[in-house]
Amino acid sequence: MELYETLESRRSVRKYKTDQVSEDLLKKILEAARIAPSWSNLQCWRFIVVRDPEAKKGLAASMPDNNPAKKAVGETAPVVVVLCADPKESGDQDGKDYYLLDAGLAMQQMMLAAHAEGLGTCWVAWFDEAKAREVCSVPESYRVVGLTPLGHPEKQPSARPRKEFEEIIFNEKWGSPLK
Ligand SMILES: Cc1cc2nc3c(=O)[nH]c(=O)nc-3n(C[C@H](O)[C@H](O)[C@H](O)COP(=O)(O)O)c2cc1C
Repeated sequence: MELYETLESRRSVRKYKTDQVSEDLLKKILEAARIAPSWSNLQCWRFIVVRDPEAKKGLAASMPDNNPAKKAVGETAPVVVVLCADPKESGDQDGKDYYLLDAGLAMQQMMLAAHAEGLGTCWVAWFDEAKAREVCSVPESYRVVGLTPLGHPEKQPSARPRKEFEEIIFNEKWGSPLK
């Protein structure tokens, strides 16, 4: 899939077929995360591939019942990828913790690669970190930043609205429209 088509057509997928994702495809997608940019190229991220049904149920149990991605994580998606990052393996400046950016960029690269291959993902950050940590035996030095179900979409969701170009993009100075 062409890059702009990938960017424009990606959606958060919360309904999955139970079909497996092949090992080769899974590795190809994870490779997109591995090559992401990061603070000083320190690559503070770690990814855990979860396919064990009990572990997936455990991760779903770390999510509140009204998290709309709960069923995808616990039941339908064949794979859940858990994103971890070590804040000390990245940098911070003026109170900005760059491990979150590093981790987010890597995850997004993986999600776009997944979409380009016809697979669905959904960022999940609304979960109890301690519970998710326990399910995957994540060391205390790492934060569990997010996770995503990964699998073949049952259907392509419709587009969520976005702010208008003029509202968020300025020319030279804050508030000045880019014509
Ligand atoms: C940091 C972050 C955390 C998110 N956490 C959740 C979540 O816990 N559960 C969920 O269903 N969606 C979650 N989402 C998905 C957003 O709701 C979704 O990206 C947004 O509504 C835009 O829809 P789209 O991704 O289909 O374009 C999260 C997205 C981001 C970027």
